[in-house]
Amino acid sequence: MLKSLPVARLGVVGGGQLARMLAPACNAHHVQMTVLDPMHNSPAGQVAYGQIQGALHEPDALKALCERSDVVTFDLENVGADILMALADQGVELIPAAATIRLIQNKLAQKCHYRASGIPTAEFIDIGDEPDFAVVKAFGLPCVQKAHTGGYDGRGVHVIQSAGDWDRRLKTTSFLEKFVGGGTELAVMVARRASGEMVVYDPVEMVVDPALNLLDYLVAPARVSDALRVQAQKFAKQTVESFGTNGLFGVELFVTDDGDLLVNEVAPRAHNSGHHTIDACVTSQFENQLRACLDLPLGATELRGVALTANLVGESGFIGSPVIEGLEDLSKLPDAHIHLYGKDECRPGRKMGHFTLIGDNHDELIQQLKLVRRSLVVRGDTPQ
Ligand SMILES: Nc1ncnc2c1ncn2[C@@H]1O[C@H](COP(=O)(O)OP(=O)(O)OP(=O)(O)O)[C@@H](O)[C@H]1O
Ligand SMILES: [Mg+2]
Repeated sequence: MLKSLPVARLGVVGGGQLARMLAPACNAHHVQMTVLDPMHNSPAGQVAYGQIQGALHEPDALKALCERSDVVTFDLENVGADILMALADQGVELIPAAATIRLIQNKLAQKCHYRASGIPTAEFIDIGDEPDFAVVKAFGLPCVQKAHTGGYDGRGVHVIQSAGDWDRRLKTTSFLEKFVGGGTELAVMVARRASGEMVVYDPVEMVVDPALNLLDYLVAPARVSDALRVQAQKFAKQTVESFGTNGLFGVELFVTDDGDLLVNEVAPRAHNSGHHTIDACVTSQFENQLRACLDLPLGATELRGVALTANLVGESGFIGSPVIEGLEDLSKLPDAHIHLYGKDECRPGRKMGHFTLIGDNHDELIQQLKLVRRSLVVRGDTPQ
């Protein structure tokens, strides 16, 4: 098909690191990417064709982005979905659909959707605003309290094992979920385009830091049986199909003690658990996100080796302008790749970047990770 250039004008709601990492795919395709972000010089704004400075729930800002775009996609889901639903009626294409963004914004609505769609998910009950510990005990301990909305990076998630934990509960509208004890967490990236074509990546294993409830590192492929791998891919595809829309999705799953799979939650966008795909897969998650937006044939998802990706988060005890130490040791490794997000300010625990190591086996990469972590540090320039 004959196309005039630029191929498209892509709008992205949010200008964080995910939009920043989408930029190379846009540039390669001569797609003009404009991001909407409240922050001047946002991570993606630094590298995009354009940035609109504005709030992600602000009608005029979202309208301005839509007017400048042929297709709009997302860097995060905490956006004005209702406004976007109204704008979609005026003709702008949203990938994924705003209705799916709105569904996913509410974890309880998401869980109800899985239950109604026959997708296995941990048992849950809504406790709303005025919870009573008797209800919690009747549901059974241990369990997990989850905020209906607004949670991310483990905020909005509280494990309850005792009355004391209950005293420290989240003071927000929430539901309870059975605690899943298996200890293995998987994530599967899936892309789907308008033609209905879908591609699915190899499941990755997310190793969570139990203290921070935050991803410590991930390895791909996950160290699970072939049968479980295939099952995880099947559930992930089924979950994405259930939304009836297109785009890129990260499907998080738990492996139970009995070796069964439960869908935890879905991100309707690029995901931390797909960052290794930039360097370790035939087609990166960002390239496939763009292709899904343009309805182009989706790229192959094969891994070219075993991969490990770790977040680079701000070191505790420091704030201020970011500084990095130990880049030399990482760069000495045979197949190591750093991605820094261009954030102006570093705070303890803030995601400042990530790196991916590629090799022949998991143990070798975990050894390399230990080595890298001894020297590689990102921190603020001022002690706290
Ligand atoms: N039902 C559960 N049983 C056991 N652990 C759980 C359960 N729900 C959540 N967790 C733990 O808490 C982590 C964060 O939970 P969840 O993914 O629901 O929240 P989130 O804030 O959206 O996280 P993120 O943004 O990091 O994906 C999970 O990755 C898992 O380690
Ligand atoms: Mg999660």
